[in-house]
Amino acid sequence: MTRRLVAAVLRGAEEAGAETEFVDAAALRIRPCSACTLCYQTGECPKQDDFAALYEKMLGADGVVFGSPNYIDNVSAQMKLVFDRMADAIHCQLFAGKYGCAVATAGGAGADDIAAYLNHVLQVLGADTVGAASVEMVSGPEAFAAAEEKAFALGKDLVAAIETRREYPDQAALHAEVAAGMKALVFANKDVWKHQYGHWTSQGQN
Ligand SMILES: Cc1cc2nc3c(=O)[nH]c(=O)nc-3n(C[C@H](O)[C@H](O)[C@H](O)COP(=O)(O)O)c2cc1C
Repeated sequence: MTRRLVAAVLRGAEEAGAETEFVDAAALRIRPCSACTLCYQTGECPKQDDFAALYEKMLGADGVVFGSPNYIDNVSAQMKLVFDRMADAIHCQLFAGKYGCAVATAGGAGADDIAAYLNHVLQVLGADTVGAASVEMVSGPEAFAAAEEKAFALGKDLVAAIETRREYPDQAALHAEVAAGMKALVFANKDVWKHQYGHWTSQGQN
Protein backbone atom coordinates (compact mmCIF):
# COMPACT_ATOMS: atom_id res chain seq x y z
CA MET A 1 0.00 0.00 0.00
CA THR A 2 2.98 2.30 0.58
CA ARG A 3 3.92 1.69 -3.03
CA ARG A 4 0.50 3.02 -4.08
CA LEU A 5 1.08 6.24 -2.16
CA VAL A 6 4.52 6.68 -3.72
CA ALA A 7 2.97 6.01 -7.14
CA ALA A 8 0.38 8.73 -6.48
CA VAL A 9 3.16 11.24 -5.68
CA LEU A 10 4.92 10.29 -8.90
CA ARG A 11 1.70 10.63 -10.93
CA GLY A 12 1.23 14.12 -9.48
CA ALA A 13 4.82 15.03 -10.30
CA GLU A 14 4.42 13.71 -13.84
CA GLU A 15 1.23 15.69 -14.34
CA ALA A 16 3.25 18.76 -13.33
CA GLY A 17 5.77 17.90 -16.02
CA ALA A 18 8.45 15.94 -14.16
CA GLU A 19 10.22 12.82 -15.30
CA THR A 20 10.02 10.27 -12.51
CA GLU A 21 11.45 6.90 -11.63
CA PHE A 22 10.20 4.49 -8.99
CA VAL A 23 12.75 2.34 -7.19
CA ASP A 24 11.72 -0.48 -4.83
CA ALA A 25 14.53 -0.64 -2.27
CA ALA A 26 13.18 -3.98 -1.05
CA ALA A 27 13.88 -5.51 -4.48
CA LEU A 28 17.53 -4.40 -4.40
CA ARG A 29 20.48 -6.15 -2.85
CA ILE A 30 21.84 -3.58 -0.43
CA ARG A 31 24.29 -4.70 2.24
CA PRO A 32 24.47 -3.01 5.62
CA CYS A 33 27.01 -0.27 6.25
CA SER A 34 29.94 -1.78 8.14
CA ALA A 35 31.32 1.56 9.39
CA CYS A 36 34.64 1.17 7.54
CA THR A 37 34.50 4.95 6.82
CA LEU A 38 36.18 4.42 3.44
CA CYS A 39 33.45 6.60 1.86
CA TYR A 40 34.55 9.41 4.18
CA GLN A 41 38.10 8.95 3.00
CA THR A 42 37.57 8.33 -0.72
CA GLY A 43 33.93 9.16 -1.56
CA GLU A 44 33.44 5.56 -2.66
CA CYS A 45 31.83 2.65 -0.85
CA PRO A 46 33.77 -0.57 -1.44
CA LYS A 47 30.67 -2.77 -1.29
CA GLN A 48 29.70 -4.19 -4.65
CA ASP A 49 25.92 -4.19 -4.58
CA ASP A 50 22.89 -2.29 -5.85
CA PHE A 51 23.38 0.79 -3.67
CA ALA A 52 25.73 2.69 -6.01
CA ALA A 53 23.19 2.80 -8.86
CA LEU A 54 20.40 3.94 -6.54
CA TYR A 55 22.68 6.58 -4.99
CA GLU A 56 23.60 7.91 -8.42
CA LYS A 57 19.91 8.23 -9.32
CA MET A 58 19.16 10.13 -6.11
CA LEU A 59 22.15 12.44 -6.50
CA GLY A 60 21.10 13.18 -10.08
CA ALA A 61 17.49 14.02 -9.17
CA ASP A 62 16.01 17.45 -8.41
CA GLY A 63 13.46 15.82 -6.10
CA VAL A 64 13.45 12.70 -3.95
CA VAL A 65 10.39 10.96 -2.50
CA PHE A 66 10.92 8.55 0.39
CA GLY A 67 8.20 6.05 1.31
CA SER A 68 8.07 3.34 3.94
CA PRO A 69 5.58 1.30 5.92
CA ASN A 70 5.69 1.39 9.70
CA TYR A 71 7.60 -1.68 10.84
CA ILE A 72 7.65 -1.82 14.64
CA ASP A 73 7.42 1.95 14.98
CA ASN A 74 10.20 2.61 12.51
CA VAL A 75 10.96 2.57 8.81
CA SER A 76 11.41 -0.81 7.13
CA ALA A 77 14.81 -2.46 7.43
CA GLN A 78 15.24 -2.09 3.67
CA MET A 79 14.80 1.68 3.92
CA LYS A 80 17.19 1.90 6.85
CA LEU A 81 19.83 -0.02 4.89
CA VAL A 82 19.66 2.71 2.26
CA PHE A 83 19.92 5.49 4.85
CA ASP A 84 22.87 3.91 6.65
CA ARG A 85 24.80 3.89 3.39
CA MET A 86 24.35 7.67 3.12
CA ALA A 87 26.50 8.96 5.98
CA ASP A 88 28.95 10.44 3.47
CA ALA A 89 26.09 12.26 1.76
CA ILE A 90 25.05 13.69 5.14
CA HIS A 91 28.58 14.76 6.09
CA CYS A 92 28.89 16.51 2.70
CA GLN A 93 25.24 17.74 2.60
CA LEU A 94 24.88 16.29 -0.88
CA PHE A 95 21.10 16.84 -1.07
CA ALA A 96 21.54 20.62 -0.66
CA GLY A 97 19.42 22.34 -3.29
CA LYS A 98 17.12 19.34 -3.73
CA TYR A 99 13.51 19.10 -2.63
CA GLY A 100 11.76 16.08 -1.19
CA CYS A 101 8.68 14.68 0.44
CA ALA A 102 7.63 11.55 2.29
CA VAL A 103 4.81 9.03 2.38
CA ALA A 104 4.10 6.31 4.93
CA THR A 105 1.50 3.74 5.82
CA ALA A 106 0.88 1.87 9.07
CA GLY A 107 -1.47 -0.91 10.07
CA GLY A 108 -2.87 0.81 13.13
CA ALA A 109 -0.76 3.76 14.31
CA GLY A 110 2.26 5.95 13.80
CA ALA A 111 2.19 6.58 10.04
CA ASP A 112 2.71 10.32 10.67
CA ASP A 113 5.80 9.61 12.75
CA ILE A 114 7.30 7.45 10.02
CA ALA A 115 6.67 10.13 7.38
CA ALA A 116 8.14 12.76 9.72
CA TYR A 117 11.26 10.64 10.15
CA LEU A 118 11.61 10.19 6.37
CA ASN A 119 11.38 13.97 5.93
CA HIS A 120 13.88 14.42 8.76
CA VAL A 121 16.38 12.25 6.89
CA LEU A 122 15.84 14.30 3.73
CA GLN A 123 16.44 17.50 5.69
CA VAL A 124 19.56 16.16 7.39
CA LEU A 125 20.86 15.26 3.93
CA GLY A 126 20.39 18.93 3.04
CA ALA A 127 17.09 18.85 1.11
CA ASP A 128 14.04 21.03 1.71
CA THR A 129 10.88 19.01 2.31
CA VAL A 130 7.51 20.13 0.99
CA GLY A 131 5.21 17.89 3.03
CA ALA A 132 3.99 14.37 3.69
CA ALA A 133 1.07 12.01 3.13
CA SER A 134 0.44 9.17 5.54
CA VAL A 135 -2.37 6.86 6.52
CA GLU A 136 -3.27 4.08 8.94
CA MET A 137 -4.81 1.18 7.07
CA VAL A 138 -7.21 0.52 9.96
CA SER A 139 -8.94 3.79 9.02
CA GLY A 140 -10.40 2.12 5.95
CA PRO A 141 -10.56 2.66 2.20
CA GLU A 142 -11.91 6.20 2.35
CA ALA A 143 -8.96 7.33 4.45
CA PHE A 144 -6.62 5.59 2.04
CA ALA A 145 -8.27 7.29 -0.95
CA ALA A 146 -7.86 10.66 0.81
CA ALA A 147 -4.19 9.93 1.47
CA GLU A 148 -3.72 8.95 -2.18
CA GLU A 149 -5.27 12.25 -3.23
CA LYS A 150 -3.01 14.11 -0.82
CA ALA A 151 0.00 12.20 -2.20
CA PHE A 152 -0.97 13.20 -5.75
CA ALA A 153 -1.16 16.88 -4.72
CA LEU A 154 2.15 16.49 -2.92
CA GLY A 155 3.80 15.32 -6.13
CA LYS A 156 2.51 18.37 -7.98
CA ASP A 157 3.66 20.64 -5.17
CA LEU A 158 7.10 19.02 -5.15
CA VAL A 159 7.55 20.02 -8.79
CA ALA A 160 6.25 23.56 -8.08
CA ALA A 161 8.81 23.91 -5.26
CA ILE A 162 11.61 22.73 -7.54
CA GLU A 163 10.55 25.03 -10.37
CA THR A 164 10.24 28.14 -8.21
CA ARG A 165 13.21 27.31 -5.96
CA ARG A 166 10.77 27.74 -3.06
CA GLU A 167 12.40 28.97 0.14
CA TYR A 168 11.73 27.55 3.59
CA PRO A 169 13.37 29.88 6.16
CA ASP A 170 13.04 27.38 9.05
CA GLN A 171 14.63 24.63 7.01
CA ALA A 172 17.34 27.00 5.76
CA ALA A 173 18.24 27.68 9.41
CA LEU A 174 18.37 23.95 10.10
CA HIS A 175 20.56 23.35 7.03
CA ALA A 176 22.98 26.06 8.14
CA GLU A 177 23.22 24.49 11.60
CA VAL A 178 23.67 20.95 10.28
CA ALA A 179 26.21 22.05 7.66
CA ALA A 180 28.26 23.90 10.30
CA GLY A 181 28.24 20.81 12.52
CA MET A 182 29.21 18.50 9.67
CA LYS A 183 31.96 20.81 8.51
CA ALA A 184 33.39 21.00 12.06
CA LEU A 185 33.28 17.20 12.33
CA VAL A 186 35.03 16.78 8.99
CA PHE A 187 37.69 19.37 9.81
CA ALA A 188 38.38 17.60 13.10
CA ASN A 189 39.07 14.44 11.09
CA LYS A 190 40.67 16.11 8.08
CA ASP A 191 43.84 14.01 8.07
CA VAL A 192 41.83 10.81 7.57
CA TRP A 193 38.54 11.88 5.94
CA LYS A 194 40.35 13.35 2.95
CA HIS A 195 37.45 13.15 0.51
CA GLN A 196 35.10 14.96 2.87
CA TYR A 197 37.74 17.55 3.74
CA GLY A 198 38.32 18.11 0.02
CA HIS A 199 34.57 18.48 -0.50
CA TRP A 200 34.20 21.22 2.11
CA THR A 201 37.38 23.08 1.16
CA SER A 202 36.35 23.03 -2.52
CA GLN A 203 33.06 24.69 -1.52
CA GLY A 204 35.06 27.82 -0.70
CA GLN A 205 33.92 27.55 2.90
CA ASN A 206 37.26 26.77 4.58
C1 LIG B 1 7.14 -6.61 10.24
C2 LIG B 1 5.97 -5.70 10.34
C3 LIG B 1 5.91 -4.79 11.37
C4 LIG B 1 4.83 -3.90 11.48
N1 LIG B 1 4.79 -3.03 12.51
C5 LIG B 1 3.75 -2.18 12.62
C6 LIG B 1 3.69 -1.27 13.73
O1 LIG B 1 4.55 -1.20 14.57
N2 LIG B 1 2.60 -0.44 13.79
C7 LIG B 1 1.61 -0.46 12.87
O2 LIG B 1 0.66 0.31 12.98
N3 LIG B 1 1.65 -1.31 11.81
C8 LIG B 1 2.70 -2.17 11.67
N4 LIG B 1 2.76 -3.03 10.61
C9 LIG B 1 1.72 -2.96 9.57
C10 LIG B 1 2.21 -2.18 8.36
O3 LIG B 1 2.75 -0.94 8.71
C11 LIG B 1 1.07 -1.93 7.36
O4 LIG B 1 0.43 -3.13 7.04
C12 LIG B 1 1.59 -1.22 6.14
O5 LIG B 1 0.50 -0.59 5.49
C13 LIG B 1 2.30 -2.17 5.18
O6 LIG B 1 2.71 -1.46 4.06
P1 LIG B 1 2.89 -2.19 2.64
O7 LIG B 1 1.52 -2.65 2.20
O8 LIG B 1 3.45 -1.12 1.78
O9 LIG B 1 3.85 -3.32 2.87
C14 LIG B 1 3.81 -3.93 10.50
C15 LIG B 1 3.88 -4.86 9.46
C16 LIG B 1 4.93 -5.74 9.37
C17 LIG B 1 5.00 -6.74 8.24
